[in-house]
Amino acid sequence: MMSVDRAKNQVLAVNGGDPAKGRPNPPMYPGGMEIGPEEEEAVLEVLRSKRLFRYYGPNAGPSKVEALEKAFAAHMGTRRALAVTSGTAALICALQGLGVGPGDEVIVPAYTWIASASAVMAVGGIPIMAEVDETLTLDPADVERRITPYTKAIMPVHMRGAPCRMDALTAIARQHGLTIIEDTAQANGASFGGRRLGSIGDVGIFSLQFNKIITAGEGGVVITDDDQIWQRALMFHDVVGGQRNNIAPAEILWGVNFRMAELLAAVALVQLKRLDGLLDAMRQRKRMLKDGIAPVLAAKGFRFREMADPAGDAAIALVFFVDRPETAHWAAGALKAENINASVLYSPDRSDYHIYPHWAPIMNQKAWTPDGGPWRWAQRPIEYTPDMCPRSLDLLGRAIHLDISPLLTNEDVEEMIDGITRVVEAA
Ligand SMILES: Cc1ncc(COP(=O)(O)O)c(C=O)c1O
Repeated sequence: MMSVDRAKNQVLAVNGGDPAKGRPNPPMYPGGMEIGPEEEEAVLEVLRSKRLFRYYGPNAGPSKVEALEKAFAAHMGTRRALAVTSGTAALICALQGLGVGPGDEVIVPAYTWIASASAVMAVGGIPIMAEVDETLTLDPADVERRITPYTKAIMPVHMRGAPCRMDALTAIARQHGLTIIEDTAQANGASFGGRRLGSIGDVGIFSLQFNKIITAGEGGVVITDDDQIWQRALMFHDVVGGQRNNIAPAEILWGVNFRMAELLAAVALVQLKRLDGLLDAMRQRKRMLKDGIAPVLAAKGFRFREMADPAGDAAIALVFFVDRPETAHWAAGALKAENINASVLYSPDRSDYHIYPHWAPIMNQKAWTPDGGPWRWAQRPIEYTPDMCPRSLDLLGRAIHLDISPLLTNEDVEEMIDGITRVVEAA
């Protein structure tokens, strides 16, 4: 419980009082912080076997990468999975799987890691930014407005653990004959309508980079029920994937090398077993924190981020909107002083590759060659302007983000409730 001294202490830490939270924030690496003897043993097993490469080695034991793919597909509820080197590589393989190519438009959210858009450009496609709504994920109504005859796919990104409005987005895609590629890099294991994210669209991708829910340091996975998408992704991720997998010569396409290493797969396999336990732990802490601060937010007229499916939230973060950016900045600063890890999601003057106006190389249509980037293949004039998704910027500029680590103790959460209550009251 909160100490009596702290409860009595009503002076905010920004004004010289003691911080509400006694301990610093646990590092926000949910799976990363769990790495222990099981991961060590799994890595040693690979090293001892000298089977470091997926497809061959001196000792022909079972491949860890193949085992990871089987386990991932089973866990997420798809027929196929392909393990690759990163989430970005997974996006590129998935886009190749879908047949997105030069000049094709792909609708991406205004708020996502820049890699979602870079992957589209890597296959020659044109990212088209659309608004996010109060879920901070794609606004289906705005997606519909941005569809043109050149749109090929929609990329819902389940940001900060929260499922997109998959029912509405799926209906729009069906109506317009578009495909859906789900970027589940930040929502591993979360769900919508009881189905795991990544398994709902035509193809889904995951990242296993170190700050994701489960991790192997780096890595990525593509999942799909569609054999053709899987086979195309398989060929693209491995230069000789076509020959290696006995694909008919006439169907073989060229590929690059995004093959996952056995050492990464060994770690990822152990981490996958930890996934649902991590989600349970984060959900329990988030529920407690949310219930605890709901009264003070309601009193101030501030609202939580909406959830398209609250039961499916991965619960890595709690986000609420305040009235103005100035309030958000003051409150985030005051919360940090209380030892509470708060941040404002968007500032015009703080570079952050999660929000489109800060994607300078894309906004300025920078190319790798003097002849121009993918925009030279665009089938209509494309212009990006900082104000093209004003609602997203308004929401993100008023959004306060709190990490929900599975390592938070009950005492931590109680102190957070105390600190947030005091700061919001004073806001
Ligand atoms: C939403 C989103 N998409 C894609 C990626 C790319 O993943 P990776 O860093 O593994 O390439 C990330 C994470 O970095 C991400 O957060």
